[in-house]
Amino acid sequence: MNRIAKLITAGTLASILVVILSAGPAHAEVDKKTVRTWKAKCSSCHGEDGKGATEQGKKMGVRDMTAGDFWTGLTDAKMKDAITNGIKQTKNGKVQEMEPYKDKLKAEDIDALVAYVKTLKK
Ligand code: HEC
Repeated sequence: MNRIAKLITAGTLASILVVILSAGPAHAEVDKKTVRTWKAKCSSCHGEDGKGATEQGKKMGVRDMTAGDFWTGLTDAKMKDAITNGIKQTKNGKVQEMEPYKDKLKAEDIDALVAYVKTLKK
């Protein structure tokens, strides 16, 4: 093999390695864990699909996270605050209550949930 061919081979191997590393299992794992957390801790009100069409969700007037107007003016910071510190408010005559998750979830889990919730947007 001449030098140029060797260089090309090394370069190709290096890029393959980069692709494997960046698409590696670590990422998929985080997502699965986040989905599990969502299903276990959040879907009872928000629904697995985020539409809030659950018994609890209807009772409290939980909004449809897949709908455009849910996202109007909503920032990552606001979502993080809601998940961290909870919600207690009355809206349209309905008592809306979400417990604070600061003692139950780590900050990075809450960040992952914020990112996950954003994937529900249609
Ligand atoms: C006991 C029911 C309940 C559970 C469980 C629940 N929520 Fe909520 N959530 C609500 C209510 C009620 C609201 C306020 C109404 C709305 O915005 O739809 C809300 C609002 C939100 C909002 C919007 C906050 C904002 O500022 O507008 C986000 C994001 C959210 N929840 C995420 C989560 C995540 C993530 C979990 C799980 C860790 C979770 N919720 C669990 C009831 C719940």
